[in-house]
Amino acid sequence: MTRLKMGIIGVGGIAQGRHIPSFLDMKSKVEITAVHDVNQERAEETAKTYDISLVCNDYKEMFPHVDAVTICTPNKFHAEISIAALEAGVHVLCEKPMAITAAECEAMLEAAEKNDRLLSIAYHYRYTPEAQLAKKAILNNDIGEPLVTRVQAMRRRKVPGWGVFTNKDLQGGGSLIDFGCHLLDLALWLLDDPKPVEVIGRTYDRLSKTPGQVNDWGPFDHETFNVDDHVTSYITFENGASMQFECSWAANIKEDHTSLTISGVDGGLSVYPFELYQAKYGALMDSTAKIREGEPTPGLAQANNFVDSCLGQDELVVKPEQALKVTRLMEAIYQSSETSTSVKL
Ligand SMILES: NC(=O)c1ccc[n+]([C@@H]2O[C@H](COP(=O)([O-])OP(=O)(O)OC[C@H]3O[C@@H](n4cnc5c(N)ncnc54)[C@H](O)[C@@H]3O)[C@@H](O)[C@H]2O)c1
Repeated sequence: MTRLKMGIIGVGGIAQGRHIPSFLDMKSKVEITAVHDVNQERAEETAKTYDISLVCNDYKEMFPHVDAVTICTPNKFHAEISIAALEAGVHVLCEKPMAITAAECEAMLEAAEKNDRLLSIAYHYRYTPEAQLAKKAILNNDIGEPLVTRVQAMRRRKVPGWGVFTNKDLQGGGSLIDFGCHLLDLALWLLDDPKPVEVIGRTYDRLSKTPGQVNDWGPFDHETFNVDDHVTSYITFENGASMQFECSWAANIKEDHTSLTISGVDGGLSVYPFELYQAKYGALMDSTAKIREGEPTPGLAQANNFVDSCLGQDELVVKPEQALKVTRLMEAIYQSSETSTSVKL
């Protein structure tokens, strides 16, 4: 079988921690042949560590040598680099969020369609075993029509103190665009992409802009901090469903927790941990799942899906038009907060 030639653009935390190890675990079908990073020294070191033959000074130099690229740069560069790769005939797996604005996402989607190349976004929560179970339960009609979704993606005092996460120019936002986006994507996917009609959002930064913070994920500069650390939203959909959404990097709460629950007409479910709530035989019935050990990690499952899709042997799980909708919603939440009004979509 021909191996897919993969290039990595941006070789920081997520490239080293998730994408490179995943591709190295799939050596029979993919080979990392090139790397690029604006930090040339980091690119050279990565190439040496993983025996990657080509280090490119400019990301465009990479395109003739690869079939696909994985883009792991700060969010500001996702659109520009993805579009250049797609125009050069290269498939793209881009880190989340797809891009900072919906307009950028639309241009990425157009480039993928025009050049008949694949574009996927690294929303890996979909590949968690709990999310896979929830999707199957909904498709099996175990909860009936979904009515009310509640999402909480909450961390207690964990502003990422490294990298550029607190820089609005490079990332476009904070806790919502970095962490909340995963749960928004997961919720929309589970609900089968209902059309949002109205969004109310509020963003907060007061805690992180106060000097002398206790922060479990390293020090950060409260003076240059210019993104959100806590976001709430209420979203209504055309089909009558609604979503209560909250995410935070730095809440004053007892402990971190990530939860997504859906209450439907016939039953309900929780994704983390997976539980199914039904009423049957005149009684309330709860089901739990024993998640089997040894399943591929979400990162590996994501890499397999992308590579197999590029090789024509699978279909993308995360489609660009879905990721665009996540960015549209986030944009509406930010807009609602800025204008103190609800946003109609
Ligand atoms: N899927 C997830 O759960 C997850 C987790 C963390 C980060 N991310 C995403 O991954 C991306 C990178 O995050 P990270 O944690 O690896 O950050 P990082 O700061 O550790 O690494 C970013 C790398 O990109 C390089 N870079 C910066 N600008 C560049 C450019 N214009 N061209 C090429 N290289 C450039 C930097 O030198 C650095 O090596 C972000 O979009 C972030 O949202 C996703």
